[in-house]
Amino acid sequence: MQKLDVAEIARDTTTEWVPHALARNIDLGFDATADNTANATADSAAHAVIEGDTLLVREMLVNLLDNALRYTQPGGRVTVRVAANDHRVQLSVEDNGPGIPAEERERVFERFHRVLGSGAEGCGLGLAIVREIAQSHNAEAHLTAGAHGSGTLVSIVFPRAA
Ligand SMILES: Nc1ncnc2c1ncn2[C@@H]1O[C@H](COP(=O)(O)OP(=O)(O)OP(=O)(O)O)[C@@H](O)[C@H]1O
Ligand SMILES: [Mg+2]
Repeated sequence: MQKLDVAEIARDTTTEWVPHALARNIDLGFDATADNTANATADSAAHAVIEGDTLLVREMLVNLLDNALRYTQPGGRVTVRVAANDHRVQLSVEDNGPGIPAEERERVFERFHRVLGSGAEGCGLGLAIVREIAQSHNAEAHLTAGAHGSGTLVSIVFPRAA
């Protein structure tokens, strides 16, 4: 574990995934300025520092990007966001795809659990890996609907490094 900048990792990883998004005709965006947590510091992106493992944080984001791009229909939108306050750093991926029914939102974090009829191939391991990596960073993983109650929003909330 060492000090790392989540905004930097997220920006680099998102940039690397732009070709995948273009191939799927999905608008992939990155936003490190919006801060939807309380007690925002003046420049939230500059303070997105945590104690962690760069490869694991990257792996977590890759799994979320893979899901968002795989399950969202062509013409859709995926946004990666980083927001920080004095205590927490939040990394999130939001899409405007089909969403995950409320009764499935906890179970999709279990290994091999897949939602019937998602219409794409997968092993059902991605979100289990995301949760394991989150736990190893004392972070919490939350899955909700996206803006306006549709799509999917996965947020990882890390304790900010002192
Ligand atoms: N962004 C999303 N939009 C809609 N459904 C999703 C999304 N992310 C995950 N899901 C649903 O949750 C299930 C579990 O996701 P998870 O990433 O754990 O496994 P997978 O994508 O099926 O396979 P793997 O990631 O191992 O290749 C998926 O099969 C899909 O039904
Ligand atoms: Mg997956």
